[in-house]
Amino acid sequence: MIYEPAEDSYLLQKQVEKFIKKEMDVLDIGTGSGIQALTAKKQGANVIAADINSECVTHVNKLGIKTLQSDLFENITGKFDLIIFNPPYLPEDEREPEDSKLVTTGGKKGNEILARFLAGAKDYLKEDGKILIVFSSLTPDVDQLVEENKFTFEKISEQKIDFEKLIVYELT
Ligand SMILES: C[S@@+](CC[C@H](N)C(=O)[O-])C[C@H]1O[C@@H](n2cnc3c(N)ncnc32)[C@H](O)[C@@H]1O
Repeated sequence: MIYEPAEDSYLLQKQVEKFIKKEMDVLDIGTGSGIQALTAKKQGANVIAADINSECVTHVNKLGIKTLQSDLFENITGKFDLIIFNPPYLPEDEREPEDSKLVTTGGKKGNEILARFLAGAKDYLKEDGKILIVFSSLTPDVDQLVEENKFTFEKISEQKIDFEKLIVYELT
């Protein structure tokens, strides 16, 4: 299942548009439909995309973006000016079908994939590299995870939807 861009995708995309400069080296993890990768490429960045789901990899490769199948950084080499990640960030709901869980569920608590991402990300950032993430007010302990992994955060955007708030952080 390829995640159809939704409010979280568009909120993040707006920030991606602001951050990209020509020739920037950009990594889009969990690329899904490729929305963030395409936005960065259109603005002149050098983009590599990755997703754990082979269906997304095939789809985004066809859009002309080099895309790898990778569990987070598993198959990634190199260092980047910007890493973008719209992770699965919701707590597990056992009634949800498995294919949809892969795109929405971050683990039992909801922050487990984000935690693994933050633990690995530093090795793939250039010295002044930045990260853009989006998550929900339902995702627990994000500030704590960010700090444990020695990043600093700035909230650069948020949007209220139904019963939750979506939040975009810039991490340095
Ligand atoms: C919420 S969707 C975001 C898709 C797209 N980037 C966007 O902004 O609309 C999350 C994506 O992360 C991918 N994903 C889930 N676990 C992953 C992992 N461990 N490593 C890489 N990608 C993963 C899913 O397959 C899905 O495409």
